[in-house]
Amino acid sequence: MKLLSTIGSGIAALALVAGAVPAAAAFPERAITVIVPFASGGPGDTVVRIIGEHMARTLGQPIVVENVAGGGGTTGITRGSQAKADGYIIMLGQMGTHGAAPAQYPHLKYDPAKDFAPIGLVAAMPILIIAKKTFPASNLREFVDYVRKNQDKVVEAHAGVGSVSHTTCSLLQSIIGTKTARVAYRGTGPSLNDIVAGQVDFGCDQIVNVAPQIQAGTIKAFGIASVERSAAIKDVPTTKEGGLPEFEVSAWLALFAPKDTPQEVVAKLNDALVNALDDEGTRKRLLDLGSVIPDRAGRSPDALQKLVVREIASWRRVLTVPDDQ
Ligand code: MLT
Repeated sequence: MKLLSTIGSGIAALALVAGAVPAAAAFPERAITVIVPFASGGPGDTVVRIIGEHMARTLGQPIVVENVAGGGGTTGITRGSQAKADGYIIMLGQMGTHGAAPAQYPHLKYDPAKDFAPIGLVAAMPILIIAKKTFPASNLREFVDYVRKNQDKVVEAHAGVGSVSHTTCSLLQSIIGTKTARVAYRGTGPSLNDIVAGQVDFGCDQIVNVAPQIQAGTIKAFGIASVERSAAIKDVPTTKEGGLPEFEVSAWLALFAPKDTPQEVVAKLNDALVNALDDEGTRKRLLDLGSVIPDRAGRSPDALQKLVVREIASWRRVLTVPDDQ
């Protein structure tokens, strides 16, 4: 009897192991949803759709984008962090949702450093100071001067408290000593539409979102906040060239799964991401929009986890007081 029960539990254990291995080995057996925590048409949405096309080919299953906007990206990331940890619902996180948000939301429902299985870094994104075409300034010095003198009139547009556009423009406004009105949108796709239409005055946005509009001449760009100019928009001077060297900031975008997602599943998703970032056609589309593509070492789950931890600490130093605008 004792022998039988031992054999019996041995079989049960074998069955469990046998059940677990093929499940991960077979992943994915159906479509994968990527939650983009902002409205469609913005930088995160654009980049996920570009890399998603190639990842879907590697994985042999469709990648479906679901835009879950609100709370500067924290609504979609909260939902994603609570999804089943099987790799079928993953998220696009970024410097706002996984770096700045803890400093802006005292009651944030997720911990960016603990509640995720990082998949990999997708791209870095230089930030640009942009404005409506009729903004009465023709360079960065004039822009700063005008905003300082007209703080009661000028309106900034951003993608919600804690988002990249919000935190980087908080930084800009603290450097130049201004406090203008600020309007929150559900992403910088819609806020850029209103800047193009002239309904709001200026913003800080990621290069992939604004490069096509700068090339088309529908908005003004006063400076790119990176060490060097971007080949995608060569005529835009760096903020250092424009007289504001203190404003140097770049955002990042990355893929995350919920914590406890099986390691083999994360490895498959990472492999598909790495392949996409090595693909010539995908790289060209990202580079033409000004993205900075990470090298191979920078694309590992471990590198992303370390980046998140560093970013939370540095944004806590910069954004010490929650900003309620
Ligand atoms: C941000 O400001 O965080 C992003 O630009 C939002 C977006 O992807 O629309």
